[in-house]
Amino acid sequence: MTATSPALRVAVLLSGAGSTLATLLAADLPVNWVQVISDRSDAGGLAVAAQAGVVHACLERDRFPSRSAFEVALALALEQAEPDLIVLAGFMRVLSERFVQRFCSKMINLHPSLLPKFPGLNTHQRALDAGEREHGASVHWVSAELDAGPLIAQTRTVILPGDTAQALQARVKPLEQALLVQVIADLARHWREHGSLPRVSFSD
Ligand code: GRF
Repeated sequence: MTATSPALRVAVLLSGAGSTLATLLAADLPVNWVQVISDRSDAGGLAVAAQAGVVHACLERDRFPSRSAFEVALALALEQAEPDLIVLAGFMRVLSERFVQRFCSKMINLHPSLLPKFPGLNTHQRALDAGEREHGASVHWVSAELDAGPLIAQTRTVILPGDTAQALQARVKPLEQALLVQVIADLARHWREHGSLPRVSFSD
């Protein structure tokens, strides 16, 4: 690709406070933030997007009669924004196989554990309960199976004596956000150099 390649167009899906989004936006990445979508109207991430002047929308899950109706609206909103990359940054919905396949190879997720350990919720407490010596976070391509798509990168920290889930979460959070910044920077560079995202193998 040439220096005139358009910047990677990135959409973000979230459900919560949006501290991850705030970190991404502050990182001055060479990307075009095309859309932020929340499935909750009370998500702080919407205000983060508004303050940064990023187009944002709320598709409140509870206002749709079914998951498939919600996903049809979500897919439509995403397709209108034409993202090259979709980042799940604290998006707390399990997406159907059908939806995932529609956006296959262009959707990544940030998960607060060293996958394949501890997919799902309450990862910090579960790592402590399991007597793990280290913990961390993963960024992976999204596949139809929850928190199980091909890994892109991980960050780790040692579990300290006396650690609580809260302490661990507080330690992992800045690490995971830095990891996501780095992954998006790498993908943006790949996009600039090749005009595409890396090819992903979902076969394993
Ligand atoms: C992060 O801890 C992320 O790992 C998890 O959800 C949290 C999002 O927090 N998937 P925020 O809404 O970005 O503050």
